[in-house]
Amino acid sequence: MSDRHFDQLATRFAEKIYGGAKGAIRLAVLQADLTESLPGRPLRVLDIGAGLGHMSLWLAERGHEVTLAEPAVPMLEGARQRFADAGQKATFIQAPWQDLPSQLSEPYDLVICHAVLEWLAEPFTILPVLHQLTRNDGWLSLAFYNRDALVYRNLLKGHFKKMRRNTLAGEKQSLTPQQPLDPRELAAQLGGMWRVETQSGVRVFHDYMPVEFQARAELADLLEMELAHRRHPSFAGLGRYLHWMCRPV
Ligand SMILES: C[S@@+](CC[C@H](N)C(=O)[O-])C[C@H]1O[C@@H](n2cnc3c(N)ncnc32)[C@H](O)[C@@H]1O
Repeated sequence: MSDRHFDQLATRFAEKIYGGAKGAIRLAVLQADLTESLPGRPLRVLDIGAGLGHMSLWLAERGHEVTLAEPAVPMLEGARQRFADAGQKATFIQAPWQDLPSQLSEPYDLVICHAVLEWLAEPFTILPVLHQLTRNDGWLSLAFYNRDALVYRNLLKGHFKKMRRNTLAGEKQSLTPQQPLDPRELAAQLGGMWRVETQSGVRVFHDYMPVEFQARAELADLLEMELAHRRHPSFAGLGRYLHWMCRPV
C-alpha cells in the first residue's frame, strides 16, 4: 500500500464535498476550534496535505502567513486558483510530507494536518515529522477520519458481515479513506510528543440523519447544532472526523 495522492477524480469529489453541507460543517467546526485556541497575533502556518486550500485561505484572510504543502498537482492547482480568486498570497510547495523536513528549516507556529492521516500507508510515521515542524510553543491542528464513526454507521446499516470480516477501509481506488483511525490507538501514539488540549467531533449527527430530515434541514440550523454538540460527552466521539488541538510536550 502507498500514500494516496489525490488524482483528478478525487479532486472533483473533494470539490463536491466542499460545496455541500458536509464541507460547510467541517469548516465551521475546525474554524471554531482554531479561533478558540489561537492567539490574536499573526502566525506562521504550515498546512500539510493542504488539498484545495480552504482552511489555508481562511487563515490567510485573517492575516496569517501561510505555506501550503500538497503532493497532488490537481489539488494544489485548485488551491492556487482559490487564493488568486480571493486576492490572497501564500507559499505553495508541491511535495509529500516525507520531503518537508529537508525543504523547510524553521519550525512553524501552527501546523495543520487535516484529513491526511487516513490516506497514508503508515499513518503514524508522520507524527515525529509534525513535531519537528512545529515550534515548542506552537500548535498542531490534527483532524482525522474516525474509525468509530465508520463502525457505528455500519452497525446502523446492518452491515454485520462487513463488521465480522473487519473490511471497513476503502478499496484501492475508492473514495473511502484507506486507513480510518482508531482514536485510542492514535492517542497512544501521540503520547510523549503531543498533549491534546481540545477534542471536537466533526459532524456528530448530520451524517446519521435520515435523508428526508437531512434534506429538509436548513444549513444555518445544522451549523448551529453541530457546533453546540461538537464536545458533547456522548456525541463528540461519533463525529465522522475528530479534530484535536495539540501542543508539543
Ligand atoms: C481529503 S484531502 C484533505 C485536504 C485538506 N487538508 C482538507 O482538509 O480539505 C487529503 C489530501 O492528502 C493528500 N496526501 C496524500 N498523501 C500525502 C502525503 N504523503 N503527503 C502530504 N499530503 C498527502 C492528498 O493528495 C489530498 O490532497
